[in-house]
Amino acid sequence: MVVKMKRTARILNGIEIAAQIKAEVAEEAKALAASGITPGLAVVLVGHVAASEIYVRSKVKTCAELGLWSEMLTPPESITTEELLELIAGLNARDEVDGILIQLPLPAHVDTRRLLEAVSPEKDVDGFHPINVGRLQSSASHGIEAGKALAPCTPAGIIEILRRSGIAVAGQHAVVLGRSEIVGKPAAMMLLNASATVTVCHSKTVDIGRYTRDADILVAAIGRPGFVTVEMVKPGATLIDVGINRVTDAAEVARFFPGDAARAAQFAQRGSTLVGDIHPAAFELAGAYTPVPGGVGALTIAMLMKNTVTAAKARRGAAARDSEVAAAKA
Ligand code: GUN
Repeated sequence: MVVKMKRTARILNGIEIAAQIKAEVAEEAKALAASGITPGLAVVLVGHVAASEIYVRSKVKTCAELGLWSEMLTPPESITTEELLELIAGLNARDEVDGILIQLPLPAHVDTRRLLEAVSPEKDVDGFHPINVGRLQSSASHGIEAGKALAPCTPAGIIEILRRSGIAVAGQHAVVLGRSEIVGKPAAMMLLNASATVTVCHSKTVDIGRYTRDADILVAAIGRPGFVTVEMVKPGATLIDVGINRVTDAAEVARFFPGDAARAAQFAQRGSTLVGDIHPAAFELAGAYTPVPGGVGALTIAMLMKNTVTAAKARRGAAARDSEVAAAKA
């Protein structure tokens, strides 16, 4: 009898890694509080987008859990770009506000680019301001490991998962699927800073499988459920799945999770289930992978908290250290 050995891929648990980072952030916030600084985050949520509301509430709640201060601004959908620019200018001017986050997407009539560029680079905890985009690409010394960069939260989370899981990046071929400003492009830049050889594939790439089959690290961020199939993956590769796609079609769920009773029960109860950009069958071939849910998504808020503390330390920490030194001398 031939016994087929099934590869046991290692699961990279985003929830556990996020918990580690949050614990570190809480420690740092406590240390800052001892010198009279409570790191503060202002979140701007325009109008009523259900998904954004859930996401923002979670950000505000996590701030409270870690000893950060937060404020939520909820202007109506009808607000103009000019009015939002005034609102941002007000937040830029307030010393106790360390981080400013404008929840995206904004209504179509708002000039998103102008707004993102209006946020003070020192308070840009999303890392979307051109100054921070430039800093990210200009030097690895601004890397998140140096605790300096305000880098976009999702790709920063990917780097943390790889680093904390002891997965080698230097010299490896990293293939990034997707070229968005929020994930794909900054992820490619951060992997390059970590000395990977990087390939970026996108909707115009001819024969994506040709590249993914050679990937030691594959980052999928295109928002298409199960796009990466078993045939597209190199056995033993590290698969990082950024996709969080809600699937509501029963036949599709059965196709993604054949014989998975737990998923079927969950789908029957909720009427939907989450599927990443990587087909679940491909995970079986991997050396390690991030599950959906419970993988990359779990890191994003933790990295936002980390960026807020980094911003507080960079902007206000020096002043606090100076006053400590003065007090010690007195
Ligand atoms: N909407 C979806 N993801 C993000 C993000 O990372 N930052 C902001 N500001 N909005 C988002």
